[in-house]
Amino acid sequence: MKLFIDSADLAEIKEAQAMGALDGVTTNPSLLAKAGRPMRQAITAICELVDGPVSAEVLATDTDGIVKEARELAALHPNVVVKVPLIADGLKAVRILAGEGIRTNVTLCFSAPQALLAAKAGATYISPFVGRIDDAGGDGMELVEQIVLIYRNYDLETEVLTASVRSPVHFVRAALIGSHVATVPLSVIKQLLKHPLTDSGLARFLEDAKKIPKA
Ligand code: E4P
Repeated sequence: MKLFIDSADLAEIKEAQAMGALDGVTTNPSLLAKAGRPMRQAITAICELVDGPVSAEVLATDTDGIVKEARELAALHPNVVVKVPLIADGLKAVRILAGEGIRTNVTLCFSAPQALLAAKAGATYISPFVGRIDDAGGDGMELVEQIVLIYRNYDLETEVLTASVRSPVHFVRAALIGSHVATVPLSVIKQLLKHPLTDSGLARFLEDAKKIPKA
């Protein structure tokens, strides 16, 4: 499973990249607002840093506006994948953009039929928001399971990008289900790395190493 970082913060992205496991980046308007830089500047800087797909979201909600903005974002850098909301105008735009070879990440997916329609429109990625489904009392990972199965049943090429990941449990379940990608905030990437037995084992080895006779 590919690991993307869910962040628009260059320092966070650099930190995750230094661990050697980073395949790409997802951003959204909320993350860009938090990063505090103009959108195009921030996206270009991320693309120059990471050799992989970088999702940048359109703000328009009508088909013509989405297509226009998508073309501008895609022209910023070859790494850009344009994030499009899962609404009727969004899917119409995805169809046009797919015809032009512009990659899309269809975002704000909360149901299996939405995901099927996005794939039929030619989405490169579909982003089910698992954490937000859990927050509303549902089971976000059950949706990922359904989408992966439906896409497999019909050999659909759209990749499932598990988004709104809040814990290592989401990440592991995504990998077991066969999600193509999980996008994960840095705080959760750090949790993926941690195990108390690794820390106590290392402490013991370092302690015992002091008793090794010197040559
Ligand atoms: C990424 O593509 C999504 O925008 C992001 O994972 C949403 O996460 P949130 O539900 O924690 O805001």
